[in-house]
Amino acid sequence: MTIGRLNHIGIATPSITASLAVYRDLLGGTAGEPFDLPAQGVRVCFVDVPNTQIELIEPLGAASPIHGFLAKNPAGGQHHVCFEVDDITAAVAAMTARGARILGVPRIGAHGTPVVFLHPRDMGGVLVELMEAPGAEH
Ligand code: CO
Repeated sequence: MTIGRLNHIGIATPSITASLAVYRDLLGGTAGEPFDLPAQGVRVCFVDVPNTQIELIEPLGAASPIHGFLAKNPAGGQHHVCFEVDDITAAVAAMTARGARILGVPRIGAHGTPVVFLHPRDMGGVLVELMEAPGAEH
């Protein structure tokens, strides 16, 4: 497995509306419509910039996995980076063989394709998301 292109940077925020004032209004990115991902406990809005996307993530519901992050970072902040891979199952096998810990099992992410997260302790302190996007690896 080789890493594919950067798909997006995840930014946790207490308010997508407030973050759109930064990424859309101040910086001039092109925002899509926010949408809920109840199974993941988040509301998401993608902002397109010329070479990648910003994924704004707001907690949805009391059990949202980003409540802990926002408790430590009340204003929000950079949460994860997402790289594309050809095949999520092959990527999980390769990363596990290389000693990286996988958080949970692959599930359908905000783009409708399988994603998985790698433990930040194995990734230099950065939460890394891998997203299946066939043809991503070169
Ligand atoms: Co993401």
